[in-house]
Amino acid sequence: MGKKILVTGGGGYIGSITSDLLLKNGFDVAVLDNFSRGYETPLVFLKDKYGSERLSWKNLDLTTDNLEKFFEEVKPDAILHCAALCNVGESWENPALYFRNNIFGVQRLADAAIKTNIKNIVFSSTCAVYGDAQYLPIDEKHPLANPSSPYGATKKMCEEILNWYAKVDLLNYVFLRYFNVTGASDDGEVGDSKNPSFHLIQNAIRGALGIDKFELNFAAVDTPDGSPIRDYLNVVDLANAHMRSLNYLLEDQGKNEVFNLGTGAGNSVLEIIKLVKERTGIDFQIGEAASRRKGEADKMIADISKAKKILGWEPKHSLDDSIQTLVKWYKLHPKGWNK
Ligand SMILES: NC(=O)c1ccc[n+]([C@@H]2O[C@H](COP(=O)([O-])OP(=O)(O)OC[C@H]3O[C@@H](n4cnc5c(N)ncnc54)[C@H](O)[C@@H]3O)[C@@H](O)[C@H]2O)c1
Repeated sequence: MGKKILVTGGGGYIGSITSDLLLKNGFDVAVLDNFSRGYETPLVFLKDKYGSERLSWKNLDLTTDNLEKFFEEVKPDAILHCAALCNVGESWENPALYFRNNIFGVQRLADAAIKTNIKNIVFSSTCAVYGDAQYLPIDEKHPLANPSSPYGATKKMCEEILNWYAKVDLLNYVFLRYFNVTGASDDGEVGDSKNPSFHLIQNAIRGALGIDKFELNFAAVDTPDGSPIRDYLNVVDLANAHMRSLNYLLEDQGKNEVFNLGTGAGNSVLEIIKLVKERTGIDFQIGEAASRRKGEADKMIADISKAKKILGWEPKHSLDDSIQTLVKWYKLHPKGWNK
């Protein structure tokens, strides 16, 4: 029997694609999700693909439900904690919702893990913990002085909570600070179901395929073309980094590390739009959003040398790969997963 991973948020974009990769590589998976933003449909799809003895899930809310009982039933070897609210714009409108869901959620998760003797946690963090870059590329030692949004602040606080539990030797962690995630599974069968998405490339492809109107919503910044520069990482490469982090904790007796995950290269918003137009061959209309985003950093590019060195990980997919898989995904699921 393979090692069993409890994936929180496994009904979401990154959680479902990571579950697919874990199952493909011999892990068993138990998902916890309240399906507030995620879907059972990708899990039904994965159950058909890998069998019900290897994948199960339960509709539970991290902030209110009895987690210990579920952890005792599942007895996972490690937890991959992807569940969170992660819409930056929404976090500015309703910070309290984000503080409660993400911070209280991580505290309850950690407490239940400790009580049920689950020691290892891989945590989905974000480059939003860094705020404006003081230098580029951003390595893991970059100060976390000023997260770029209430959402980013919740992730920083979650890291602090887990770090204190680790300091008193109750947990081992790996924090994965993702930069911008894009693409779908390589076969295009599992993807980002946010409808509309709040990710640039996803929305540009939706615009190109005529699913939604594409609108510019970035704040003007100090870059050569005036649009923000971001580091776009393919979601399957990201899933692979999760698997390596789990192996690092479970097999290599590693503990308590932080890794930036990106590609080490950046593209501006306007470059991405041009690229999507070229690669799809569709010259779609660009609209103007009613309001522009807040707290936009000029340039965010990851230094990924630590993940390369310690996890032996590096991205294998190009931006073109991400665009192609998103085109497949949105052609198969123009409206995302059915609830
Ligand atoms: N998508 C990105 O570009 C990106 C970048 C950096 C970090 N992250 C982090 O990665 C993780 C996954 O992101 P995603 O894009 O897959 O988001 P998503 O919204 O698709 O998935 C999140 C899942 O968590 C579940 N969830 C939320 N609150 C819950 C709760 N209280 N109890 C149980 N389940 C709950 C939702 O129902 C959803 O299925 C998040 O933690 C996010 O902060 C994402």
